[in-house]
Amino acid sequence: MRIPEAVYPKLASCACIVALLALSAPVWAAGDPGRGEVVYEKNCLGCHGKTGSGLGVGGATPNFADRARMTSKTDADLFETVTHGRPGTGMPAWGKVLSETDRWNVVAYIRTLARP
Ligand code: HEC
Repeated sequence: MRIPEAVYPKLASCACIVALLALSAPVWAAGDPGRGEVVYEKNCLGCHGKTGSGLGVGGATPNFADRARMTSKTDADLFETVTHGRPGTGMPAWGKVLSETDRWNVVAYIRTLARP
């Protein structure tokens, strides 16, 4: 099958985004949980609770202290949810509220809640 030429620029930009994601992944993974804790207490604790077990006022939130559940999620999954929220649920989008660094830091902090 021939790919129509009009599609080439789109393919090229896709490849570019993928390359950028791959390049920046190691930086993202290095979120700072200490700084993330501050972000969490200010923005997330009200719904997700101090221990992340979801006993805050926001109603039913996932349990961040549940190791089996959390190990099934990648950091990128969590970052994605924090950035875009979950439309139709109580989970707000933080992409325009928190910097990218703060979002990675808070993901790193959430990870610490599931450690024994
Ligand atoms: C207004 C209440 C509220 C606030 C504030 C809030 N969340 Fe949530 N969050 C929710 C709810 C409700 C869900 C469950 C969404 C669903 O049902 O899929 C959720 C889901 C999530 C998930 C998905 C977890 C999973 O296992 O799928 C992550 C990660 C998350 N929140 C992180 C955060 C972070 C980080 C903050 C602070 C920057 C935050 N949330 C602030 C209500 C909130």
